[in-house]
Amino acid sequence: MSEQTDPRPLWLSGHMAPVPDEIDAADLPVDGTLPSELSGRYFRNGPNPLPGEPSVHWFSGHGMVHGVRLRDGRAEWYRNRWVRTTSFTEGAPMLRPDLTVDRAAVPANTHVVPHNGKIYALVEVGFPYELTPDLATVGPCDFGGRLTGAMTAHPKEDPRTGELLFFGYGFTPPHLTYHRLSADGELVESREIEVPGATMMHDFAITENHVVWLDLPLVFDLSLASHGMPYRWDDGYGARLGVMPREGGAVRWYDVDPCYVFHVGNAYEDETGRVVVEGPRYGRDGFDRIWSAIGGPAVTGRDLARAGSAIGGARLHRWTLDPESGKAVEEALDDRGVEFPTHDESRTGLPHRYLYTVTDDSIVKYDVRTGATATHAPGPGLHPGEAVFVPAEGARAEDEGWLLSIVSDGAARGSELVVLDASDLSRTASVRLPRRVPAGFHGNWIPDAPAVPSTIGPIG
Ligand SMILES: [Fe+2]
Repeated sequence: MSEQTDPRPLWLSGHMAPVPDEIDAADLPVDGTLPSELSGRYFRNGPNPLPGEPSVHWFSGHGMVHGVRLRDGRAEWYRNRWVRTTSFTEGAPMLRPDLTVDRAAVPANTHVVPHNGKIYALVEVGFPYELTPDLATVGPCDFGGRLTGAMTAHPKEDPRTGELLFFGYGFTPPHLTYHRLSADGELVESREIEVPGATMMHDFAITENHVVWLDLPLVFDLSLASHGMPYRWDDGYGARLGVMPREGGAVRWYDVDPCYVFHVGNAYEDETGRVVVEGPRYGRDGFDRIWSAIGGPAVTGRDLARAGSAIGGARLHRWTLDPESGKAVEEALDDRGVEFPTHDESRTGLPHRYLYTVTDDSIVKYDVRTGATATHAPGPGLHPGEAVFVPAEGARAEDEGWLLSIVSDGAARGSELVVLDASDLSRTASVRLPRRVPAGFHGNWIPDAPAVPSTIGPIG
């Protein structure tokens, strides 16, 4: 069935269509040579409504995590599992009859993030769900009762301190709360942040000394509840980035040209103390295009539900926030439509040189210092997902390592986990997966725990 004649919405058809069940497969076929030091698990989350279940928005389906276990140059297994949230197992509604919010009744479909030896499936409207390394669900986590609101799906682990910084937003006050989880998993700080209204805040950024907020004009509108994601663009809201000292103090806001940003690539402080933020930026048209294509209200009145791709409306952009002038300087870095930016996470919040993104049909590497780009196109009809960077052991260059991406066929013929050499985007290996993996959102490489040197001397 061609995409033109398929009556299903974009997110239920082609390479985005959900799969009907959970499977396991062992000893997967590999083309090329998997680097033996890639020992660990690649987990990737995405929405996957149950067969026959109504789906009003791409973002609303139950989370399903796809996992590939690599060890000693072999692809030992693939498995996929729905996250057993209470909305999955019991059909629990997020809004209780008394209109309070059940933070465990959520789809947990956006990201899968390790911290302090635990693995969390995340969605921005609720509590994290802990998973086992075999993708079984342990249950929702509120950090010993300390987390009382939602947790973003895009927390940032500070590579210097090991802390996990995150936030939650809500359509009722407090609209924005900053949180800090210690390196050993204790929620040690929660701070309410004043913002003018309730918006969808999908991501944020950190730098060495600051947190950067994205206060952008995608505002909450209860009248749109039937769309699943009751948010719409409001020109009247304005658009601003906020720089907040991590150690405490007021947020300094910088007005920016109205835009939406789902994802930050990275941010850092330059040598003069300016905060530099880079990521794919949507203007109004680009945003309307994706939002209506994935189930949101078509605010322009144009029917874009058949837009054909969920990627393509955003361009890589740089905002430089200057505390001297109080102004933001903006710069478009490219004219390709890209999404899902990644980087070497040992540089999160620190100056970086490379960002990795995907277009509808390619993986694109940016050298943001020189402006050079490189691309890898997996082939006609193939769509790469987010490319996760895994550093090589003892890497000296920032791009010494691999990119892992699940590539899926638009004609639903199958998927593979592709391993690219991040330095030149050449293909190192690919793992043939036993089924098509639907296009989804975000994932992580979770390396096997490094051997811990024994501190106990030999007995006797
Ligand atoms: Fe995201």
